[in-house]
Amino acid sequence: MSNVVEVKSLKVHFDGHQGFLKDFFSKEKNLVKAVDGIDLVIKKGEIVSLVGESGSGKTTTGKALLSLTHQSDGEILFEGESISQKNKKALKSFRQKAQMIFQDPYQSLNPRNIIMDIVAEPLVVNKLISSEDEKKERVIQALENAGIKPAERFLYKYPHELSGGQRQRIVIASALILNPSFIVADEPVSMLDVSIRADILKLMVEQRDKKGISYLFITHDLSLAWLISDRIAIMYLGKIVEVGDAELIAGSCLHPYSKALVSVMPVPRKLKNRERMILKGETPNPSRIPTGCRFHPRCPFAIDQCKAEEPVLKEVKPGHHVACHLV
Ligand SMILES: Nc1ncnc2c1ncn2[C@@H]1O[C@H](COP(=O)(O)OP(=O)(O)OP(=O)(O)O)[C@@H](O)[C@H]1O
Ligand SMILES: [Mg+2]
Repeated sequence: MSNVVEVKSLKVHFDGHQGFLKDFFSKEKNLVKAVDGIDLVIKKGEIVSLVGESGSGKTTTGKALLSLTHQSDGEILFEGESISQKNKKALKSFRQKAQMIFQDPYQSLNPRNIIMDIVAEPLVVNKLISSEDEKKERVIQALENAGIKPAERFLYKYPHELSGGQRQRIVIASALILNPSFIVADEPVSMLDVSIRADILKLMVEQRDKKGISYLFITHDLSLAWLISDRIAIMYLGKIVEVGDAELIAGSCLHPYSKALVSVMPVPRKLKNRERMILKGETPNPSRIPTGCRFHPRCPFAIDQCKAEEPVLKEVKPGHHVACHLV
């Protein structure tokens, strides 16, 4: 399988404010290291989940992959070509082939526009249609692909007339209308009723099966990642600490942070006699990253080496990478 996306040593740092006086007198900048050097490959038709606690840098990674935020360092290749703000031509074609689905279907649709105009917007902006009839036809097709049927009944409705699940389908229809090969889905079902989550996830997987779309699926919910993805990358404080086959991560991961996430994952009753591993404290602030292994202050197994030396992500078995001195 060919690589659709390749991320090399990606960093996204923001200027953080420390308060007016500190900003004024302090010589050193307070850098928020939201993404702090990650490597990741997503293959054609593959669903890779990015899992981690709140603030670990998942959304920033997703946005950086789509050039929706700045990149402090590193390189992103899309279908083999380097994507950067400087390469305008590649960026334009990339913007059509790569799309993002956000968490909140209530905020991502313009309340003043009818569904037809919302879904057609990417076509109009990119000057890809020549007549109103063509526009209508393409929108109907996209809505039907996203499970909105009969599509004609929805064309002239406003977002407030739809349910949360229908709105998220509209968001998906607008993401699909340019036939993308890569989609970043950032917590796409976390605001939806449990009863409709499965349908939306099924729709995304169907699109992968039919069209070979690759996904980066962002979630804080490891059980969801396990359900939907081929591979899982576990992110902690701006870094990927473990990545591997979804089954393997859920069943026999090796990093203590991944183990803690797995130990609190809801599972069928027969597997329930495992020990829960509750982590001490919260994710530290990404402007004050601990020395050595960034997880060491919360790790129950940390040794002296962990405080001093940052572990690198190394391959422990084919396709299974872990960043931990103890592995
Ligand atoms: N524009 C910005 N300026 C400064 N700091 C930012 C900016 N965007 C994100 N951050 C910080 O970067 C860190 C990572 O944020 P991000 O939104 O990527 O986390 P996340 O893993 O998506 O969290 P959540 O699960 O809550 O959505 C956070 O500490 C956040 O406050
Ligand atoms: Mg987020």
